[in-house]
Amino acid sequence: MTLVLEKEDLNFKIFKEFKKNSDYLSGQYLVDKFNISCQDLLQSIKKLESFGYKIEVNSNRSYRLRNSPDKFYPWEIKYNLGTNLVGRAIYFKEVLGSTQDFIRNLGQNGACGGTVVLAQEQKKGKGRRGRSWFSPEEGIYLSCLFRPKLLLAGNIAQVALIMSLACIQAVKKETGISLSVKWPNDIYLEGKKIGGILCELEAEADKVNFFTVGIGINVNTRVLPPEATSLFLSTKRYFSKILLIKEILRQIEKNYLEMEKGNIKELLSSWEKHCFLWGRRLRVEVLDKIIEGEAVGIDEMGCLLLRNDIGFVDKVSSADAIKLT
Ligand code: BTN
Repeated sequence: MTLVLEKEDLNFKIFKEFKKNSDYLSGQYLVDKFNISCQDLLQSIKKLESFGYKIEVNSNRSYRLRNSPDKFYPWEIKYNLGTNLVGRAIYFKEVLGSTQDFIRNLGQNGACGGTVVLAQEQKKGKGRRGRSWFSPEEGIYLSCLFRPKLLLAGNIAQVALIMSLACIQAVKKETGISLSVKWPNDIYLEGKKIGGILCELEAEADKVNFFTVGIGINVNTRVLPPEATSLFLSTKRYFSKILLIKEILRQIEKNYLEMEKGNIKELLSSWEKHCFLWGRRLRVEVLDKIIEGEAVGIDEMGCLLLRNDIGFVDKVSSADAIKLT
């Protein structure tokens, strides 16, 4: 079943009222507040219960929310999200092939900028360059669609960088954990990969129709290959995926709007501060060539700069594999 939240419907309004108040709310109060019938109220309460919410009723016909399921339902994400663009429409599916494929289809059918797709688990999660992305239940898998006014296809590398920055900022804010990045947009913790970003575009010759940003982060995942880690494996603590997703959505909106305002330089320089490659010798496979050199930074388009042995600086715009030598 696909759950969608596009506008504030009655169920969402009643859910919000329960979330805001830990005390009992009288049925009369809710009926008056939303100008609805008792029947409407009971139907909404039943609906919430069908999603696993435990709602208690007392002898005065008052109700309170006792327990919420640990699912990132669209209304959980939308509650107190505080964004204007990102999350305008939120789709949730327990199990999906790939949130990227799902959102592309929505985009081709006219979905608005800011649409978000969330999955609890992916069966065919996609990584960069045709790789797969291991997506068990304990992680975060989300995609967001943007319809930029000005962006050119050539700027997508910058977008991917500022989105990986957004993830790092969000994780720091929500958990206090400092992550780092490896160019172009692999997210690392303690030398192991913990997350990744996949940006894809639908463009014509001179115009980007929309682009999608897919974010995967290993949050509470307990079993991973040795080269990967999760927030849980590193800290032995469990984290709320709902709170993390909300913060990621806030940060991707913030960075996207900054980019639209033209403040890309500041964002890229902040990204550079989180990258752990500087000063290290790299071997980069670019198509059929191998480039070696010391990583010295990125340029204004987000290309990696490598200084070779005779002092010249090579630009790498898309690398298949980066190896530290
Ligand atoms: C990478 O580092 O290779 C990028 C990984 C991107 C994974 C995310 S999970 C959500 C979204 N849906 C997908 O199928 N892939 C991206």
